[in-house]
Amino acid sequence: MLYRYLGQSGLLVSRICLGTMTFGMKDWGCDQKTANAIVRHFIDQGGQFIDTADMYSAGLSEEMLGNALKNHHREDLVVASKCWFRMGEGANDKGLSRKHIFDAVEKSLKRLKMDYLDLYQVHGPDWFTPMEETMSALDDLVRQGKIRYIGCSNYYAWQIVKANSIAEKHGKEKFISAQHLYNLVRRDIENEILPACADQGLGMLCWSPLAGGFLSGKYGRDQELPEGSRISFRKTIDVPRYFSDQAFDVIDELKTISTEIGKTPSQISLAWLLFDRRVTSVIIGPKNVEQLKDTLEVADWNLEQEFHQRLETKLELPSGYPMEWVELGFGNISGKEEFKPDHYRFPQQRN
Ligand SMILES: NC(=O)c1ccc[n+]([C@@H]2O[C@H](COP(=O)([O-])OP(=O)(O)OC[C@H]3O[C@@H](n4cnc5c(N)ncnc54)[C@H](OP(=O)(O)O)[C@@H]3O)[C@@H](O)[C@H]2O)c1
Repeated sequence: MLYRYLGQSGLLVSRICLGTMTFGMKDWGCDQKTANAIVRHFIDQGGQFIDTADMYSAGLSEEMLGNALKNHHREDLVVASKCWFRMGEGANDKGLSRKHIFDAVEKSLKRLKMDYLDLYQVHGPDWFTPMEETMSALDDLVRQGKIRYIGCSNYYAWQIVKANSIAEKHGKEKFISAQHLYNLVRRDIENEILPACADQGLGMLCWSPLAGGFLSGKYGRDQELPEGSRISFRKTIDVPRYFSDQAFDVIDELKTISTEIGKTPSQISLAWLLFDRRVTSVIIGPKNVEQLKDTLEVADWNLEQEFHQRLETKLELPSGYPMEWVELGFGNISGKEEFKPDHYRFPQQRN
């Protein structure tokens, strides 16, 4: 298993992170026995980075993970959790207020049977709580030793920059990671969020790196959803999120490359994400040990540039405004090319 530094922190994490959203999930998840087997195999194969959240199966995922980790050395692991979702009936049982964050951490630690979390993430943006309050509460928890690093999830690019600027101004802990939806058929974050993270020193942790199983190639154009598959249970969310003609073109290319290089579509999809060094880890979501074994092939196998490129061009990402405007004037702004004196002009103004 290869490890990467999480953003600009000194924390080394396995480049495959074990996601536990399947633990305790009715219909498309797994029970305690399977969760124990998944965790043991992941750790045996060199994995140490594990992600959960208070809201997964309403707390059951954290509880099951705590049980599964009972006989493992805590200090060898990097355990991450999150808060933000509503977890009770009370007015403050949600969001990123100081009150809720403090309560949520205590409850997560209790369910996990742990004294501290390595990474504590805010699960989404709270539009009503001042960011100063959130960042100061997170900083206090770091000082108390309950959490060691902080990260965000599902934030807009401007919120990432604002949060870290507030933290810097007040000498508080800054986010070292962002956890966002990123996979071969949902590349939205490439426009704004990945550049913001790179600028602010946050490592990207990709959630749903297989697009909920879509990128394994088990779904076909105009075909019934396979019985028992996750998307068959979540079709109102995942079909509009992932299924499109272009997305199936990506699947076709994945299958062609799979035949050429002898890796599964899932492995190629994960390696495609890890090709970009702004990505620290892919958070996999296996529901059994077989799926875990398949994805762990990517622990130290890298995709060659040629295949990366071929997949990238299958689903053109519209750069959108303002990038489209910037590109007109500057061409490749991320490269280190040399410039002619008149480069700072739109093409029609150049001689
Ligand atoms: N921050 C957030 O808002 C957020 C949101 C979502 C998830 N997450 C995190 O990200 C983790 C992963 O997300 P995800 O579960 O959506 O990941 P994913 O890898 O995109 O999807 C996992 C699903 O794909 C299928 N699958 C997994 N491995 C497979 C394989 N090797 N071959 C064929 N099918 C396979 C399984 O479904 P079937 O076998 O039933 O088809 C499984 O439930 C979660 O556990 C959680 O920790 C975070």
